[in-house]
Amino acid sequence: MPILTATFVKSSPEHKQCPNMDKPEYAFIGRSNVGKSSLINALTNNRKLAKTSGTPGKTQLINHFLINDQWYLVDLPGYGYAKISKVMRAGLEKMIMEYLLKRLNLINTFILVDSRHAPQKLDIELFEKYGANQLPFTIIFTKVDKLTKNQLEKNISAYKKKLQEQWEELPPIIISSAVDKRGLEQLLKSIENSLGMFDPKLIPAE
Ligand code: GTP
Ligand code: MG
Repeated sequence: MPILTATFVKSSPEHKQCPNMDKPEYAFIGRSNVGKSSLINALTNNRKLAKTSGTPGKTQLINHFLINDQWYLVDLPGYGYAKISKVMRAGLEKMIMEYLLKRLNLINTFILVDSRHAPQKLDIELFEKYGANQLPFTIIFTKVDKLTKNQLEKNISAYKKKLQEQWEELPPIIISSAVDKRGLEQLLKSIENSLGMFDPKLIPAE
């Protein structure tokens, strides 16, 4: 599926202010600095679409982008950012959870994890929340350009091993880089293949 148009729609402080649920939607979630905004820009071939930064915690709102006038791509705030207060972090997590549970047009979430690190407690907890709420997700390993082939294979198999302690069946996994564009084709294919799951009849009229 080629991306013909990608436009910023709006930034929302919570799910209630998000655009109407009239199109299929896909969200990017993950720790601050994992590369959510960069991947969205690489995917849409637009370096300026989503704001990226070396400073964690840049994205604090729910950002909607409309792709091909057909589906929404959502850049969620990074969670687990150490420099915000506990209260603020809890508020952000609650806002994200409500978004995930109430956005009926949300087809899938891509949970991004840094391919250089072992599974982090926060990520494991997030997978558990998805499991408990029966929300589908795909794991995306980011920044793989920073690893050699051997390191990458080692890290991925260690990650899978850890996941298998908790999950009988592993979620789909995509290996990606916003720099060398690895995995983008596969990511787009998985979106394209699931667009048809959106059923406008399930969304209450607003
Ligand atoms: P928050 O908005 O704070 O949650 O961060 P984010 O997840 O949106 O991360 P962002 O895309 O802003 O990227 C964070 C940093 O990682 C930036 O300095 C990016 O240039 C860098 N980065 C992101 N993706 C890649 C990648 O695939 N390869 C490399 N080498 N660097 C990357
Ligand atoms: Mg961001």
